[in-house]
Amino acid sequence: MSLLEHLRSASRANGVDTPPEAPPPTPPVVVAPPPIPVAPPADVPRMPRPAQRSEALIELKTRVHEELIHSLDPEQLVGDLGIASPARRAVEQAAEEAIALADPNVGRQDRLRLASEIADEVLGYGPIEPLLRDPTITEVMVNAWDRVYFERNGIIYRSETTFRDDTHVLNIIDKILRPVSRRLDDSSPMVDARLPDGSRVNAVIPPLAVHGPSLTIRKFSRELLASDDLVRLGTLGRTTLDFLGACVRSRANILVSGGTGTGKTTLLNLLSSYIPHSERIVTIEDPAELQVKHDDWVSLETRPPNIEGKGQVEQRDLVKNALRMRPDRIIVGECRGGEAFDMLQAMNTGHDGSLSTVHANSPRDAISRIENMVLMAVELPITVIREQIASGINLLVHLSRMQDGSRRVTHVTEIVGMQGGVISMHDIFEFQGRGVDAHGQVLGHLTPTGLRPHFLDRLGQYGEQVPVEWFLPLAPDAARGA
Ligand SMILES: Nc1ncnc2c1ncn2[C@@H]1O[C@H](COP(=O)(O)OP(=O)(O)OP(=O)(O)O)[C@@H](O)[C@H]1O
Ligand SMILES: [Mg+2]
Repeated sequence: MSLLEHLRSASRANGVDTPPEAPPPTPPVVVAPPPIPVAPPADVPRMPRPAQRSEALIELKTRVHEELIHSLDPEQLVGDLGIASPARRAVEQAAEEAIALADPNVGRQDRLRLASEIADEVLGYGPIEPLLRDPTITEVMVNAWDRVYFERNGIIYRSETTFRDDTHVLNIIDKILRPVSRRLDDSSPMVDARLPDGSRVNAVIPPLAVHGPSLTIRKFSRELLASDDLVRLGTLGRTTLDFLGACVRSRANILVSGGTGTGKTTLLNLLSSYIPHSERIVTIEDPAELQVKHDDWVSLETRPPNIEGKGQVEQRDLVKNALRMRPDRIIVGECRGGEAFDMLQAMNTGHDGSLSTVHANSPRDAISRIENMVLMAVELPITVIREQIASGINLLVHLSRMQDGSRRVTHVTEIVGMQGGVISMHDIFEFQGRGVDAHGQVLGHLTPTGLRPHFLDRLGQYGEQVPVEWFLPLAPDAARGA
């Protein structure tokens, strides 16, 4: 397909053929509060309500867009299509001229804005393109054509942006999926994919998405949060981080748990950086997100079934395969099903030093979820499963997203064995909340509970110098947590 054809189809995809209609007035914003583990709720900031765009301007934009598709030189529109690229500038300029010609009464501000929006339609993902470009935005969520949200610094805002209608959203989804050969239709109405820049995309269409096609994009962060960033952001203290680093080097099996978007993958990435560079790492993900810095790293990703429902490769298959790849470490991005059993098997048969994450509301919940995943994969008595968990997993690191948007480690918990058929675990570090300050910022620190990890002996065997002072309770007025 020529670029011009591509542009035309992109343009059609972007809804140019659809008669424009002004967005109806929208209801007041209601943002679901994130989990609040420690402090009372505060007001969530929100963006102003979407400004009403005049129908005449919408129609003008559509008309100019259509015209441009026929007049632009596709040769110019190759290579870099970024915000400052010559190609984008060319589209914007052509659009500005066409708008001025079509309606000389359109003011300069409106002309520039419309030209930029047309460039976003032609070259990018339409209305959400500015949100994707904004480096301070980490997630973009289209709940319906007229309800677009984004996350910045952990807080969810409603955007002024809207699509034209459901078809417009569907066509942008199609534009995202087409190049990566993923499909969304009646037989598979939910899909995961990745943008060319690595951002993670999920799309769901009706009837599963009741209010119309829905799109969620977790933007890929080129600049990974490093240990200093996490300490600065208050996610955890230097002592806890040093302890976790020592545990990773000593080949502890660590499970990072937390709710959705609490920073599990980010922490997993950071933990992987403590693995000695002489070791071979195999990562297993659905979809691939981790950015391991090691040379000797193989990244495996699941595959959905093809159009005939065949060829699916699940995480479980990849874990089994990874064991034949002479790994020093296996990292499963997120345990969601039967792979939990294979991971436990591996952990209990000499493949220690494994890392994974699990979606859970507390460390205890994380264990129950792993139990359930194993139960669904194999028929084993629950006590056998618990024994495998107790002897396989050494540490749980639990994260929460606080009401001020910050992500914090709330528990570092050691699994110490079985007692009376129950897995016994104790917290080594625990978040002590002290309410919120005048700006709504959550106050408090991760602090040692006073319990010494049973794992200390093992750390010593690996030559890790871990002072026992790290685990002594802090004075109540200690300025910094652990
Ligand atoms: N400690 C942190 N402080 C501030 N922002 C963070 C922190 N950790 C992660 N983030 C940001 O939060 C978002 C979600 O992070 P991440 O993907 O690691 O979460 P997750 O728990 O793995 O999410 P999911 O449940 O969807 O897999 C990202 O945009 C990331 O940059
Ligand atoms: Mg994740």
